[in-house]
Amino acid sequence: MRDSSAALRAGAPYIAVRGIHKSYTGHGRTTRALGGVDLQVEQGSFVSIVGPSGCGKSTLQQIMDGLVPATEGRVELQARPVTEPPPEILYVFQQYTRSLFPWKTVEKNIAYGLENRGGLAPAEIAARTREYIGLVKLDGFERHYPWQLSGGMQQRVAIARALACRPAVLLMDEPFSSVDALTRVGLQELVLRLWRELGLTIVFVTHDTEEAIYLSTRVVALSKPPSVVGMDLQIDLPHPRDQITTRELPRYLEYRHRLLSQLFTDEGLATGAAKEAP
Ligand SMILES: Nc1ncnc2c1ncn2[C@@H]1O[C@H](COP(=O)(O)OP(=O)(O)O)[C@@H](O)[C@H]1O
Ligand SMILES: [Mg+2]
Repeated sequence: MRDSSAALRAGAPYIAVRGIHKSYTGHGRTTRALGGVDLQVEQGSFVSIVGPSGCGKSTLQQIMDGLVPATEGRVELQARPVTEPPPEILYVFQQYTRSLFPWKTVEKNIAYGLENRGGLAPAEIAARTREYIGLVKLDGFERHYPWQLSGGMQQRVAIARALACRPAVLLMDEPFSSVDALTRVGLQELVLRLWRELGLTIVFVTHDTEEAIYLSTRVVALSKPPSVVGMDLQIDLPHPRDQITTRELPRYLEYRHRLLSQLFTDEGLATGAAKEAP
């Protein structure tokens, strides 16, 4: 393997998405999902990707993980081309109910990800499973099955399973879209805490603009398909963030204004305020 730190020192971006086009062909028609996406993700950043349903957010993440080939363009991780899922990157799917094994307990679900990677002794797998159960605060639920847990707890199992593999990068695709509002707040806090404590790089897909601003160091809005980056906002809000006071900061409201204006205008939903946006 190439010396990745040398590549970084030489100025290569941590993750580089270069000129990605993606078309799907089937049933006699072609769908152009992505129309030339360029994006560089810094190590340790929390980048959210927002945009309307069908604009290609999931497609982009799957290409970033090497799960789906691009029609044109390339993705690089520390200057190495991504052509299959790299061990440094873990992808947390949208549908956690479908990603957990219903016949396995919480601890067996988490251990599965580690066993699957190979090369770890059973004692190490057991120790790491315990560690990550603790990290997502599921102590006492080790022997429960997914169907005995709430949606938010199941999502925490999925997150623990991903993190137990100690990835450097987490790709999360609308991970909180099917939980209630309060559970969602709890999961947002969990992900923010883990991002800070573990020094992760997170690329987070959401259709919720406010969630994106609250969590991120940067928010990227995709345009309508064939999508390109329509807006790229650096989020300069202090850490640690607070669910009430951060969302009241003038700067937070300004980011919200700019992003909503961009998305509404793109959808032809422009309001009076949106038309005046900078
Ligand atoms: N496997 C596929 N085969 C054909 N079309 C697809 C496939 N996956 C996604 N698409 C199409 O590509 C476009 C972008 O989809 P997707 O990436 O899922 O968007 P988003 O995640 O933003 O909702 C949509 O028009 C969708 O129907
Ligand atoms: Mg999607």
